[in-house]
Amino acid sequence: MGARQAQPDHYVGDKAEYVREMFAGIAHRYDLLNSVLSFNRHKAWRRYAVRLANLKPGDRALDVCTGTGDFAVELYRATGRTGYVVGADFCAPMIERGRRKTERVAGQRIGMMIADALALPYPDNQFDCVTVGFGIRNVADVQQAFCEMARVARPGGRVLCLEFNQPRHWFWKPLVNFYQNRVLPRIGGLLSRRDAYTYLPASIQAFLSREELTAMMERAGLDSVRVYDLNFGSVCIHLGVKR
Ligand SMILES: C[S@@+](CC[C@H](N)C(=O)[O-])C[C@H]1O[C@@H](n2cnc3c(N)ncnc32)[C@H](O)[C@@H]1O
Repeated sequence: MGARQAQPDHYVGDKAEYVREMFAGIAHRYDLLNSVLSFNRHKAWRRYAVRLANLKPGDRALDVCTGTGDFAVELYRATGRTGYVVGADFCAPMIERGRRKTERVAGQRIGMMIADALALPYPDNQFDCVTVGFGIRNVADVQQAFCEMARVARPGGRVLCLEFNQPRHWFWKPLVNFYQNRVLPRIGGLLSRRDAYTYLPASIQAFLSREELTAMMERAGLDSVRVYDLNFGSVCIHLGVKR
């Protein structure tokens, strides 16, 4: 097998390298797949998350693991022309697609940057709000990513994580699992790279619980962490406030 060893969970070799290469391979189909596989609900989830973050015109916001920039666009809509929004991702093809989108919506007013969520190139206490959408599950060190997000948020600023999770209700759990394990990889395989859409359910099932995510955010220096379930509990928002 050479240097790339099968891992006990859901990826092969170095996680960061695997994830970056996978998203580079599906960047051209990423938005289409998001819309098809979520029945176009993903936009409403991000809009709801931004409402919870309670941004005001003129605020400064950072979206890490921004991918094709959908969250950055929602942040821009909330902070307006007087605000300041940056989207950061370590995968160049995702950022390039995102830049085209943000320029269509906001001209040059959203900065799209190549940056690693585990070592953000921003000073401490810069942003009123720092978000991550469907990205935290993909980073190689979740605790470090939360520490970085908390570091660059200002005291009193919000850190928000939107991510897939497991439904808690006995009725929805098998239905959602069936969709994720059986339906989603087939549709993903038809429209894009199948391995990316077998990675997706496997990474969701191997991911941290709501309580573990809350504990990590608290260890990163965030208080009053609140959890909001969406889509029968298959999508979850964690929102904390920097001490
Ligand atoms: C599922 S996509 C989410 C994109 C976007 N946030 C959204 O809501 O659709 C996950 C993104 O996380 C990025 N990513 C994973 N690990 C990262 C890291 N350590 N630093 C920056 N970006 C990372 C990937 O390149 C990918 O674009």
